[in-house]
Amino acid sequence: MSDVKSLSVKVGSLELKNPIIAASGTFGYGLEYKDYYPPGELGAVIVKGVSVEPMTGNETPRICETTAGMLNAIGLQNPGLEAFIRDKVPLFESLGAPVLINLFGQRVKDFPLLAKRLSECEGIAGFELNISCPNVEAGGLEFASDPKAVRKIVEAVCKVTSFPVWVKLAPYYGIAVDVARAAEEGGASALTVANTYPALAIDIERKRPLLANITGGLSGPAIKPLTLYHVWKIAERVKIPIVASGGVMGAEDAVEYLMAGACAVQIGTVHFVNPAAGLEIVSSLRQWLEKSPYSSLAEVVGLGRVPSNS
Ligand SMILES: Cc1cc2nc3c(=O)[nH]c(=O)nc-3n(C[C@H](O)[C@H](O)[C@H](O)COP(=O)(O)O)c2cc1C
Repeated sequence: MSDVKSLSVKVGSLELKNPIIAASGTFGYGLEYKDYYPPGELGAVIVKGVSVEPMTGNETPRICETTAGMLNAIGLQNPGLEAFIRDKVPLFESLGAPVLINLFGQRVKDFPLLAKRLSECEGIAGFELNISCPNVEAGGLEFASDPKAVRKIVEAVCKVTSFPVWVKLAPYYGIAVDVARAAEEGGASALTVANTYPALAIDIERKRPLLANITGGLSGPAIKPLTLYHVWKIAERVKIPIVASGGVMGAEDAVEYLMAGACAVQIGTVHFVNPAAGLEIVSSLRQWLEKSPYSSLAEVVGLGRVPSNS
């Protein structure tokens, strides 16, 4: 019977009722969207990144539209660890979906410090490490370009927590295979592929960049084929699960990522176009599965893979 078809997927030890996950920084702390639909309809929610100290973020404008996407340079604004634990974490149990905390730091030791403290809290299902940020101990070199630093971070985090640890790769260092492997060897449970792409937009009337920060990260439909490529390539090289993030606007984009080998899919920029997107994508995915010959979405993972030519 068609109604027994299962949307559930596994990302390592984490079982999700469906593969659609709200991407960090695009869904607030989960409850901001509750007037549109219950966040518990999603497979999981990844909340806005948290750092040890509060951060005020960049000057405005921090976001702008591009032809097929958006640029953002929010500057990782967040209330800092202690205020996050006091004001945000207690809300997570009411979300009804597993909540992963996106962590970032300025030095290697920030990551385990955050993970250890947060592991003592109720209502958390795992961590996602955002390594697309500068390491002040390495002259501002991004962690994401440094496999040794990534391995150190992941090992240190895995030592202090028993929760799943996902590592979110930056897509702009080749295909980041070394970093993906370093994360795997360090003990990551999954890889998020990937963050935004460095980009620029210029206001030709004002003759200056549209963003106060000059450059920003490109997201949305423009990046989907690029990130799909990374998912495809990285899936060949690592054994841990891949969670895709880049330009998903509808259920068919999600199916593409699943067929490329991702076992779950994040949605980000689409929230800015349609705040109810999460609910609609889950429901279209259910319809797609009903009409398909497959009895579960888990069966679709990797279906599109053929031997690579490079
Ligand atoms: C406004 C905005 C804020 C974001 N903030 C974060 C963040 O705090 N941490 C993080 O790891 N990624 C952050 N991202 C990246 C998204 O989580 C996502 O990986 C990326 O936008 C690609 O997916 P999309 O094309 O579906 O938006 C942010 C993206 C946007 C658009």
